[in-house]
Amino acid sequence: MEQQRWSASRKGRRPASKRGRLAFVGLVPFLSVALLSCANRLDLEGPDQPIAFSHKTHAGQLKVDCQFCHLYARRSASAGVPSVKRCMGCHEVVESDSPAVRKLQEYWDRKEPIAWKKVYDLPDHVSFFHDRHVRAEVPCQDCHGDVGAMERVRQVKDLTMDECVQCHRQQKASVDCLACHH
Ligand code: HEC
Ligand code: HEC
Ligand code: HEC
Ligand code: HEC
Ligand code: HEC
Repeated sequence: MEQQRWSASRKGRRPASKRGRLAFVGLVPFLSVALLSCANRLDLEGPDQPIAFSHKTHAGQLKVDCQFCHLYARRSASAGVPSVKRCMGCHEVVESDSPAVRKLQEYWDRKEPIAWKKVYDLPDHVSFFHDRHVRAEVPCQDCHGDVGAMERVRQVKDLTMDECVQCHRQQKASVDCLACHH
């Protein structure tokens, strides 16, 4: 009897568990799309970079000016990321025994640029110019948040068209489609 009941219930359960599995399989692409779209936009962590560079240490505690490293922000469309040489200006002597700084030294010895992963990235049909904003004294923080408090830079604002246009209206900058789209 015991045996019988066991096999009956096993038989009865089979279609149910198959349905469950199908439902789960159906959920996987949905979940990964949901996760990917989160990762694309407001990232909570920021990407894992080739060297554990901390804005909290450099821009926060040491108060190194943003434009000491992002030196094209005032004069061109892109802000630019510092060369290894800029880092070595300090790290030839500072913390030269730390494993992370030794890794930096190896890039320098090989004359190899560091392939930092991008955090912010607008679609190609949009033109963005740092110089126009920096010269109009729009603070970096208005778009990038309090970077000096971040261990790893992460995207804190979507920077959607709505956000751009909203500030442009407030600050009487152009809302002409062709100002931002070519
Ligand atoms: C103005 C000087 C200066 C510049 C420029 C600079 N750093 Fe630093 N960095 C420091 C100082 C000082 C510390 C130590 C801070 C502390 O521990 O409180 C440090 C710490 C570090 C550390 C952590 C070391 C450890 O293991 O504790 C890393 C990694 C690092 N810097 C990488 C970089 C990289 C990469 C660049 C270039 C993008 C750079 N630094 C540019 C001064 C500088
Ligand atoms: C000592 C050099 C240094 C200083 C000072 C510094 N940065 Fe950076 N910044 C870097 C490096 C190196 C990267 C690339 C690695 C990373 O994302 O952490 C970077 C990346 C960034 C990014 C992400 C770029 C992307 O990929 O989209 C932003 C935004 C940024 N910095 C803003 C700032 C702001 C704002 C300040 C001042 C509060 C500042 N940085 C100060 C070196 C610096
Ligand atoms: C009005 C908004 C705004 C302001 C102000 C602003 N940024 Fe940006 N930043 C952006 C956008 C949007 C991108 C992405 C651009 C793209 O993908 O074409 C970006 C990208 C970057 C990048 C990575 C790509 C690059 O341009 O080299 C860095 C580094 C950066 N910003 C640093 C800064 C610093 C430092 C300041 C202040 C001096 C600043 N930004 C001020 C909106 C802004
Ligand atoms: C926090 C406010 C603010 C935000 C956010 C902002 N901007 Fe601006 N933007 C300005 C100001 C102020 C000017 C005017 C500069 C001037 O008068 O030269 C400007 C100027 C510009 C210009 C030059 C316009 C011209 O007259 O040729 C472009 C292009 C531009 N912004 C694109 C963007 C894009 C794209 C975004 C969103 C990713 C954006 N801006 C987000 C404040 C902002
Ligand atoms: C101040 C800058 C700015 C102005 C002005 C602006 N746009 Fe945009 N637009 C953007 C940015 C940034 C994006 C990309 C981010 C997004 O999709 O929100 C975008 C995206 C778009 C897209 C693509 C949307 C999508 O879903 O992919 C269209 C279409 C567009 N804009 C049309 C226009 C038209 C039409 C005008 C004039 C009425 C205009 N834009 C004015 C900044 C601007």
